[in-house]
Amino acid sequence: GVSLAGNSPLKEPTQTKDGANQFSNLESVEPTISITVVGASGDLAKKKIFPALFALFYEDCLPKHFTIYGYARSKMTDEELREMISGTLTCRIDKRENCGDKMDQFLQRCFYNSGLYNSEENFSELDRKLKEKEVGRLANRLFYLSIPPNIFVDAVKYASSRASSASGWTRVIVEKPFGRDSDSSGELTRSFKQYLTEEQIFRIDHYLGKELVENLSVLRFSNLVFEPLWSRNYIRNVQLIFSEDFGTEGRGGYFDNYGIIRDIMQNHLLQILALFAMETPVTLDAEDIRNEKVKVLRSMRQLTLDNVIVGQYKGHTRGSKSYPAYTDDPTVPNNSLTPTFAALAIFIDNARWDGVPFLMKAGKALHTKGAEIRVQFRHVPGNLYKQNFGADLDKATNELVIRVQPDEGIYLKINNKVPGLGMRLDRSDLNLLYKARYTKEIPDAYETLLLDAIEGEHRLFIRSDELVAAWSLFTPLLKELEEKKIAPELYPYGSRGPVGAHYLAAKHNIRWG
Ligand code: NDP
Ligand code: BG6
Repeated sequence: GVSLAGNSPLKEPTQTKDGANQFSNLESVEPTISITVVGASGDLAKKKIFPALFALFYEDCLPKHFTIYGYARSKMTDEELREMISGTLTCRIDKRENCGDKMDQFLQRCFYNSGLYNSEENFSELDRKLKEKEVGRLANRLFYLSIPPNIFVDAVKYASSRASSASGWTRVIVEKPFGRDSDSSGELTRSFKQYLTEEQIFRIDHYLGKELVENLSVLRFSNLVFEPLWSRNYIRNVQLIFSEDFGTEGRGGYFDNYGIIRDIMQNHLLQILALFAMETPVTLDAEDIRNEKVKVLRSMRQLTLDNVIVGQYKGHTRGSKSYPAYTDDPTVPNNSLTPTFAALAIFIDNARWDGVPFLMKAGKALHTKGAEIRVQFRHVPGNLYKQNFGADLDKATNELVIRVQPDEGIYLKINNKVPGLGMRLDRSDLNLLYKARYTKEIPDAYETLLLDAIEGEHRLFIRSDELVAAWSLFTPLLKELEEKKIAPELYPYGSRGPVGAHYLAAKHNIRWG
C-alpha cells in the first residue's frame, strides 16, 4: 500500500470542488471513509448519530472500509466510548440472528479522541490517528458537528485546517441552529466559507430526512390525481402542524434563546412548506430542487404581527400529577417572554398560490405529539348533495392529510354514501397506513441523511441561499415580537394551546383540522 504519512511517492494532487485531492496512484485502491462525530459525548450523538451509523452498517450501507471517531472534551478511552454507545444501538430494522456480532464488529471500528474544539494540536492529533487507520487507501473524511452553535466556527476552522483529508474529499455536516436571525446566520455562513466550499457543507434539517417529507414530491409529481389540483384553483388552505406532549425539560437554556419559531417553524415547517409549494423542478438534481425551493421562499409575503399568535405553557395539575410551567425551569428567567407555542399565516405571492393561507402551528407541552400536513380543498361548485350537509358545507370539502409522525400515513377524506336505503352521506377516509402496507420499519431520518452525506447527495440539505431566504422571512417578525415585548398567551401544560390560534384561523375562514 501507499503511505499517506511522510515521504509517500504521491503525485501532485488536483483539487475537486469538495476539497478532494485526487492522487492518481490511489485510484485503483478501494477508498476508506473516516467519520468523526464532534461532540460525541452529547445527547444528539448518543440518541441519534451513533445509532444511525450502526443501522447503516447493519444494512451494509456503509462503505466496506470505514472508521468512526468520537471527538469531545470529555475524557474517555475507546472502550468507554464503546460502552457509552453500545446501550443505544439496536437491530430494530429486522432482527437477524447475528445482531450481537454485528454490534461487536461495529464497535471495534469506533474510537475516541479527547480534545478541545479550538485546539490545533488536538485536531492534529486526531489527524494522526485517522491516518493510521487510513493507511494505503484514498481517504474520505466526514465530520459531524454535533455541538452547540457557539463553537461551530472553531470546530470548522481546526477540523478543516488540521484534520481534512489529504487524498480524498472532506465534508462537514452541521446541526441547527444556523444563527438566530439574518445577521448572525450570514456571519456564520461567511465564517464557514473561509474554510469550506458550499459543496463541503451539509446543513442538516432532520425533517427533510423523514420518510413522509421525502415522499411529498413523489405524491405531488407522480400522481395525476394530485398534480393538477396543487394550486389556488382547488386548494383552499394548507396547515402544517407540529405538536409535542412534553415541555422543554432539560433544554430550557438553549430554548430560551431561540423559542418555538426559530426551533421549529423557521426550519422544519418552512422546509416542508417549500417542498409542498415549489414549482416543478427541472430534474430531481439537488441544485434544481433547491433552486425551486429558494424561488418559492422568496415569493412568501413578509410576516406581520396581526397574522401571528404566540403562547407559553403554564403549570397545570391533573389529578395527583402536576406539570411544570415553562418558567419553572431553573435555566429559564422567571419573566421570560419566549414563546413555546406559535401559530401564523403565510401567503405566497405567486400565480399558483395567490390568496391561499398556509397556516403553521407549533407547540410544546400540548395534549398530543405529532406532525402533519393538512390540505383542505375548495367546495364542489354546485354540489348536488349540498342539502345533505346542512348549513355547514365546509364539512363536505375534501381533505388530504399527510401524517409525518407518529404512525406514518396518508389519507384523503371523501364524501361517501352510507350503504343502505335512503341517501345519507358520510365522510370516509381513503387510508394508506404505512405500517399496514409496508412491513419493513421506516429508517430514522438521521440514517437517510448520513447516507446522503456519505454519498455526496445534497438534495436534502439546506443551501446557503435557502437559509438567507428563510431568515429574511422570519427575522423582521422575530425582531418586532422582541422589540414590542409581545406577551405570549399562557396555556396549561397538556392543553390544546392558546385560543388565539382559533381566532387566527377563523379570521381566514379556516378551521384547524
Ligand atoms: P449538547 O449540549 O449535549 O452538546 C454536545 C457536546 O458539546 C457536549 O457533550 C459537550 O461535550 C460539548 N459542549 C456542550 N456545551 C459546550 C460549551 N459551552 N462549550 C464547549 N463544548 C460544549 O448538545 P446536543 O447533543 O443536544 O446537540 C448538539 C447539536 O445538535 C446542537 O447544535 C443542537 O442544537 C443540535 N440539535 C440537537 C437535538 C437534540 O435532540 N439533542 C435536536 C436537533 C438539533 P464535551 O463537554 O465533552 O466537550
Ligand atoms: C429539534 C428541536 O430540531 O426537533 C426540538 O430542536 C424538537 O425542540 C425536535 O423536539 C423534534 O424532532 P422529532 O424528530 O422528534 O420530531
